[in-house]
Amino acid sequence: MKLLVTGGAGFIGSAFVRMALAENRAALVVNLDKLTYAGNLENLASVAGDSRYRFAHADICDAPRVNEVLAGVQPDAIVHFAAESHVDRSILSPEPVFQTNLRGTFTLLEAARLNRVPRFLHVSTDEVYGSIEPPDEAGEEYPLKASSPYSASKAGSDLLALSYFVTYRLPVTVTRASNNYGPYQFPEKLIPLMLTNAFEGLPLPVYGDGRQIRDRLSLEDPCRALVSVLSLGRPGEIYNIGGNCSLPNLEVVRRILRATGQPDSLVRTVADRPGHDRRYALSSAKLQRETGWSPQVSFDGGLARTIDWYRQNQEWVRRVKSGEYRNYYELNYGGR
Ligand code: NAD
Ligand code: DAU
Repeated sequence: MKLLVTGGAGFIGSAFVRMALAENRAALVVNLDKLTYAGNLENLASVAGDSRYRFAHADICDAPRVNEVLAGVQPDAIVHFAAESHVDRSILSPEPVFQTNLRGTFTLLEAARLNRVPRFLHVSTDEVYGSIEPPDEAGEEYPLKASSPYSASKAGSDLLALSYFVTYRLPVTVTRASNNYGPYQFPEKLIPLMLTNAFEGLPLPVYGDGRQIRDRLSLEDPCRALVSVLSLGRPGEIYNIGGNCSLPNLEVVRRILRATGQPDSLVRTVADRPGHDRRYALSSAKLQRETGWSPQVSFDGGLARTIDWYRQNQEWVRRVKSGEYRNYYELNYGGR
């Protein structure tokens, strides 16, 4: 199989590329990435010399360039990760989010249609269902209720992608996963931010009362789910990917403090995220039924391995926490 992966230099995309090559699931993987602040080719250092891997520096909003890459590769499938993925940045500056997540997805869908790509996997999120009252869980038919510019852009791109199946019969499948964590995650997201701050004895900024609930997935589980959907998922369908692991943010932060040997006094309650969704909860029954997938990694096991990775890769952390990161940190946390 020849795969075109967009956003393969990011957190989940790079894990998917590494897995596809390590497990011999692809004869060729082409990583199309713009290399924004979140894209980092260091994440792919272990496969850079592999003759089955190629990098195409491109913006998914650039139609001629995307068409050129597609025509050259003629992939059997596109796995579309590229996005502006951070909710707080989408609140501070929504424009790039709509540009990449909507216009970029549209450009890629058009190119896939014109080049008759046989499979298009659109990677989306549980955030499109909005906050869910207990004890409900969102199945794939649950209404969309996006709260942030990020989640609205993902909900819009999901609908656009599915419309290409209905109207043009482009074989699109959509996945919606909960909160992923693991190695190489940019330290703007809760877990890597909290644990890298904990290493340095810096304050851990918890939004509002910290009782917001997220479902968490250790990175290898959603990557395995995407591989399953690529081979067994049906075109025109949506598949939720959940971890059966609902925890309040404050509990996650306390576990990080215990595991890093730091005191609870590092926790700082700061102003809440505007429009902050209270609870996400997914049912992955459809995915389990149709592909046999289920999450395998416990939260404590996944967290311990993630902490080890960040401890052993402090140079990677130091590099990504310099430059642009400092400006973002000041902008997001300075006034809270
Ligand atoms: P990330 O921010 O780590 O990586 C995004 C990648 O996309 C980067 O390599 C970046 O350079 C690239 N990119 C951004 N704009 C681009 C453009 N215009 N053209 C080409 N490349 C561009 O994101 P992530 O956390 O790995 O998420 C990947 C995908 O998975 C996203 O679509 C996100 O919505 C979805 N998702 C993420 C999670 C999660 O917990 N992280 C959960 C569910 C779904
Ligand atoms: O649920 C899937 C989503 O998970 C993905 O679609 C997104 O791409 C991904 O970024 C992630 O979104 P979240 O907003 O849930 O992730 P984040 O790590 O930013 O925040 C997790 C929770 O922690 C959320 O309730 C906000 C809270 N938080 C976050 C940060 C960065 C804090 O309390 N303090 C913080 O400093």
